[in-house]
Amino acid sequence: MSNILVIGANGQLGSELVIALRNKFGSNHVWATDIRKPQGYEEQFALLDVMDAPALHDFVQTHKIDQIYHLAAMLSAKAEQQPLAAWELNMQGLLNVLEIARQHPAIKVFWPSSIGAFGPSTPKDNTPQTTVMDPNTVYGISKLAGERWCQYYHEKYGVDVRSVRYPGLIGYRALPGGGTTDYAVDIFYKAIQGETFHCFLKADTYLPMMYMDDAVQATLQIMAAPAGQIKIRSSYNLAAMSFSPAEIYAGIKQHYPDFDIVYEPDYRQAIADSWPRSIDDSAARQHWGWQHAYGLEELIEVMLENLKIKLSVVN
Ligand code: SER
Repeated sequence: MSNILVIGANGQLGSELVIALRNKFGSNHVWATDIRKPQGYEEQFALLDVMDAPALHDFVQTHKIDQIYHLAAMLSAKAEQQPLAAWELNMQGLLNVLEIARQHPAIKVFWPSSIGAFGPSTPKDNTPQTTVMDPNTVYGISKLAGERWCQYYHEKYGVDVRSVRYPGLIGYRALPGGGTTDYAVDIFYKAIQGETFHCFLKADTYLPMMYMDDAVQATLQIMAAPAGQIKIRSSYNLAAMSFSPAEIYAGIKQHYPDFDIVYEPDYRQAIADSWPRSIDDSAARQHWGWQHAYGLEELIEVMLENLKIKLSVVN
């Protein structure tokens, strides 16, 4: 039976992945860790800073960890405000995890890359798995470098590290923090709360997106696949849907006819403009059987339904 460590468990993805991993492996086999205590539920939680390599090492040995999901990172928009701190966290954190996996060959690692690893010269539509990558954000540079390190540790040391390039992730349990795709989460809150949505991207900015349950499924699936099926050890393209602010607004407006949006693009527009509009993820589909379940219509239904309950808004 696996003993699992999730680093960055309080985040948007971590808080959902921990639930799924506990359902699959049993609560007492999944350690949720972060640099701050979570609000509420705290069983099998420990404070752990991925930058503290000796503490990470001790934790892995004490709890006989054999799977690490390393999710602690600074997202794209926030990283532009603190470039060197973002580089330090995003890069050194990953290297600390890869080093532990090198020293303990039984450990399997999951690390997320992103559409942010692509850049302005990357083909924007149906972006291929292997293509030009010239990210011009600190976040993107750290993701591309991280991908190269993952492949390096796999080839040189046999580390079983697996990765996907997530699109923008949309879920209702936890808020994202400091990303460029965060608008697509926030828009649901504003619709339900009866407020005008101020969108920091232009109406026609298409970006690849994914409902959280699909992201969690992809993560469980790539980690469960036999090692031989994981033929790409940098990171797999992963896709579900692409939409613009105008499209998601129109979809939500069908449920909330009075909902208003105003477009006030800021510095995040340039980040979005440097990323793909849509992604070719056929390698993930062929190699380890990836399939998405949620498109835009299903996303809107499930987000509105669950957020209404979460925000206790009856209508
Ligand atoms: N969703 C992330 C961001 O916007 C991209 O990986 O920063």
